[in-house]
Amino acid sequence: MNNYQRLFANNKAWATSVRETDPTYFERRAASQAPHFFFIGCCDSRVPAELLTGAKPGEIFTHRNIANQAHPNDLSMLAALEYAVEFLDVKHVLICGHYGCGGVKAATLPQGHGVVDHWLHVVRDVYRWNADELAAIPDEEGRAHRLVELNVLEQVFQLSRTPVVQRAWAKGKRPVISGLVYDIHDGMLKEVVAGLDSEDKARQLRSQVTGPVSAEKPRT
Ligand code: CO
Repeated sequence: MNNYQRLFANNKAWATSVRETDPTYFERRAASQAPHFFFIGCCDSRVPAELLTGAKPGEIFTHRNIANQAHPNDLSMLAALEYAVEFLDVKHVLICGHYGCGGVKAATLPQGHGVVDHWLHVVRDVYRWNADELAAIPDEEGRAHRLVELNVLEQVFQLSRTPVVQRAWAKGKRPVISGLVYDIHDGMLKEVVAGLDSEDKARQLRSQVTGPVSAEKPRT
């Protein structure tokens, strides 16, 4: 059996096993979805949102892109965000980065990776804004890990700038936005920013990413 055939075999085994333990499961899921979370993660195949959180189908609305970004001009992300917040009424939005992220690493290297170089320009900015802090970390892995965390903070901030979140916050303190990092070495999730639910908290977060040089670097 090749990998493609194995997909179908595994799928059949999974669907059969779910039906055996819960005969009306698919019937209920087909009727509606009411996820608690909107998850923005990296494309990396080692970071499966449902598997690492034990979530079942119907519990996490998901968007993934390289380096788990919330670009303000990414129509795909914005459409998913709008649907999640305004129609599905999710309470919580998660931006989840991961240590060992090839996208974040690529943003620290000379360009030449193709289209992804354009996609990574915000991560490259984060790297530049925090060059001093990163240079002070003695080991390469430590620097890479810190940049992954800083990127999550920046993406949470970017998300807070979107009209969808601004509109929602004007009406009430939701959705709450959290920034997480998944450690591919031990399977654990770590919280790097929690409970962002207001303009004041978003402003405080911005200063964590841009640091003391923020005044010299205009931001939107
Ligand atoms: Co990644």
